Amino acid sequence: MPRPFLTRSEEKPSVGAIKNARHPFYNHCEETLERIKQQGRYRTFTPLARQAERFPLYEEYVANLPEGRDVIVWSTNDYLGMGVVPEVQEAAIAAIREHGAGAGGTRNIAGTSPLHNQLEAELAALHGKEAGLLFISGYVSNQASLQTILMSMPGWICFSDRLNHASMIAGIKSARGSQTVIFEHNDLQDLEAKLAAAPADAPKLIAFESVYSMDGDMADIGAICALARKYNALTYLDEVHAVGLYGQEGGGVSQRDGVADQVDIIEGTLAKGFGVHGGYITASAEIVDFLRSTASGFIFTTALPPSVVGAALTSVRKVRAENWRRESLFERVHTMRQRLRAAGVPFTMTPSHIVPIPIGDAERCKRISRRLLVEFGHYATPINYPTVPEGTERLRLTPGPFHTDEMMDDMVRALATLLREEGAMPEAALPKVEKVA
Ligand SMILES: Cc1ncc(COP(=O)(O)O)c(C=O)c1O
Repeated sequence: MPRPFLTRSEEKPSVGAIKNARHPFYNHCEETLERIKQQGRYRTFTPLARQAERFPLYEEYVANLPEGRDVIVWSTNDYLGMGVVPEVQEAAIAAIREHGAGAGGTRNIAGTSPLHNQLEAELAALHGKEAGLLFISGYVSNQASLQTILMSMPGWICFSDRLNHASMIAGIKSARGSQTVIFEHNDLQDLEAKLAAAPADAPKLIAFESVYSMDGDMADIGAICALARKYNALTYLDEVHAVGLYGQEGGGVSQRDGVADQVDIIEGTLAKGFGVHGGYITASAEIVDFLRSTASGFIFTTALPPSVVGAALTSVRKVRAENWRRESLFERVHTMRQRLRAAGVPFTMTPSHIVPIPIGDAERCKRISRRLLVEFGHYATPINYPTVPEGTERLRLTPGPFHTDEMMDDMVRALATLLREEGAMPEAALPKVEKVA
């Protein structure tokens, strides 16, 4: 228990009694951290520095060692490696030279550059929408947009997929006065039943994602939009793990499925498939202008720096034009799955680019990830509770165009060895493997 700040016996403690007392928040921090550690949920950063010219190689910088060690990373969200494309890097440098290092203010206070306007127009065109609006991250774009929309009129009801990302939940929860109805993940019947049960005249919004990044499964966007039309609901789609990767120009799953025009608001990030940083929404001119004029998370924060915007603009243009990058990604994902299958390493088959390796125990998951790094020089992020439900812990692999056949063979051998040693490999599938140096 935290040491009480005010004692029960003293209703009004004297200033002398509380002077120099330790504030209870310090105790709260210590106790919470202790509990998180006991539950095996304490987060530590892995000291890996990306090597731009040798991606997906990273350097592990260990204290007291003069030189780092090469590590092959399998868990980047820079899915296409756009962050290390020379033209993208050069665009950032050119923008710094031309406009300086920071934006110098919010978009309203001297923070807008021609690059900001061009990038918004480019993103609107990518999704076939009238307008786009940049935010400082994908998280903020979700939080600010959903909160602002759901507080705009009385009586809003938000229908939210059970597995929506924390940033959407943050926006939905902070919208005072609105009501939230959670529907079962990707369950159209449940969504329809809940839409039907709601008052017909209440303003409704359905918030969902296209690619759910932990399980790698996808929403049926067209079917959700059909329900939205039937019950007169607005649709808000997070394409964060899909932009750049799906569709003829990388406009996401909504573009691939030919349904982008049915979605009212498409949200995305510039930090994953486009390899840079920042978030955005695209929608009709009046929705974008409304959020530009009223969303606190847009108005009251310094704009993205020109270097980031310049790099993102170059990246989006390249990704739109260069379909070979997407083809290469999916070829590599396919090859990785084939090799895992041949070696008997279990993985969850998904309709997306994400390859989860099920482990099912938090401690073991962390240990396998650690051993993979220390003993074999490969890094795959352990995904534990609360990011995924307990018992479904996993390693999450995102193979990309930059992973070679040799890297895959080495990783698959290492995984097979470790899963066998850690008792996480189905016995029947045990291949004869040699431990690699
Ligand atoms: C589904 C989803 N939406 C939004 C975000 C936030 O995007 P950003 O990293 O650009 O803040 C994430 C981040 O991982 C995400 O997974």
